[in-house]
Amino acid sequence: MKIWRKMLTVGLSASLTFALAACGSGPDEVKGDDNGKKITLTYARGKDQTGATTKLIKAFEKEHPNIRVKFKEMPSDTGVSHDQYVTMFSGGSGEIDIFDLDVIWPAEFAQAGYLEPLDRYIQRDRIELDNYVEGAVDAGNYNGQQWAMPKFMDAGLLYYRTDLVKKAPKTWDEMMEQAKEQKGKNGAKYGYLFQGKQYEGLVCNFVEFIGSYGGQVLDEQGKVAINSPETVKGLKKMTELAGSDLVPGNVTAITEIETDAIYGEGQAVFDRQWPYHYTKMNEEGSKVKGKVAVAPLPAGDKGSAAALGGWVSGINKNSKHKKEAWEFIKFMTGPEGQKISAIDGGLAPTYIPLFEDDEVKKASPLFKDKNYVEGLKSAVSRPVSPEYPKISDIIQVEVSKTLAGKQTPEAAVKSMEKKLQEVVK
Ligand code: GLC
Repeated sequence: MKIWRKMLTVGLSASLTFALAACGSGPDEVKGDDNGKKITLTYARGKDQTGATTKLIKAFEKEHPNIRVKFKEMPSDTGVSHDQYVTMFSGGSGEIDIFDLDVIWPAEFAQAGYLEPLDRYIQRDRIELDNYVEGAVDAGNYNGQQWAMPKFMDAGLLYYRTDLVKKAPKTWDEMMEQAKEQKGKNGAKYGYLFQGKQYEGLVCNFVEFIGSYGGQVLDEQGKVAINSPETVKGLKKMTELAGSDLVPGNVTAITEIETDAIYGEGQAVFDRQWPYHYTKMNEEGSKVKGKVAVAPLPAGDKGSAAALGGWVSGINKNSKHKKEAWEFIKFMTGPEGQKISAIDGGLAPTYIPLFEDDEVKKASPLFKDKNYVEGLKSAVSRPVSPEYPKISDIIQVEVSKTLAGKQTPEAAVKSMEKKLQEVVK
């Protein structure tokens, strides 16, 4: 990918400029429509738990008086949003102009032809992709083409209550011990919360548990590698926690939304969440305001592993306003837009210079922490494949069955291997 990026900024520049000039179809300056009327764009993203999107849109509209942006809020569950997008785009809908894609979607959406390729826009506006975190740029790249711009990065984190925990635990066992000790104090009914529902968040938690014991879904060559003693160990630890009295009895119904609600009520000692949770927990009305700290997720015997999440922004291939849509993406994923997302939304920037910005550094302790920023680079990706939804479904079903005690971790891992081999050839 690195090589590709270089080609994009250096080698391809001459030929692309020529090709665009020759066919006259390059992205032009935005001038509004022919009657000088305002153009309205529709921007879709999952439910915003903060006010950042509205603020971002206002700031953009102020700089672009000829463009209005309508915000279409999609469901908070990434899998449910995914299916709604697929229904719309496969039917050729142009209702949405711009949308945020979970990092697990670009390969599939690019291959299905739902996205406008962005290289020529990036080229024309001389966007320096080297200023962005590499993993986040790669998430929007498929087959050498950039299909989406990196908006923010997610990585799983351990949150703990500073009124209960003196020192962040280093391992799963230490965490469980401390959770047991502190449970019941200061309103903390539960020791630990994680996302155990059968949905994409479960896959992220699974990847973290197995990663911390050295297990993986696919190996570096993209071959199924899930059936290993390391994966079994990780899934065993996950199952042990899910079956313990440290977590709520309905842990298999918990997503990020419930985690925010329960932790925000001060009902748990620890939880596993993404970076925005820090901002959310320190909002007015949160019972843990000023009492939350963040640490790397607990380690298994191979260290700590965080799942790489995050969102990139792309243009619907059937949008009628691609030039204006690009202007919005450029703003939203550029320094100004990402600064708003970081400060008001608690979202970790992908635009590297922002980690040196004083206001961003003040917004969350994460953003001024060199270890965190470095940690983002080594977070574990979920498989990159146009078949990702099938891969995810297999993991979701088998892990859920295991957490519900309907099969052993060993049986789950064998079954996942067999099913995954039918999808990943
Ligand atoms: C967050 C992550 C995303 C992940 C999802 C799972 O939104 O950014 O990558 O798939 O959570 O719930």
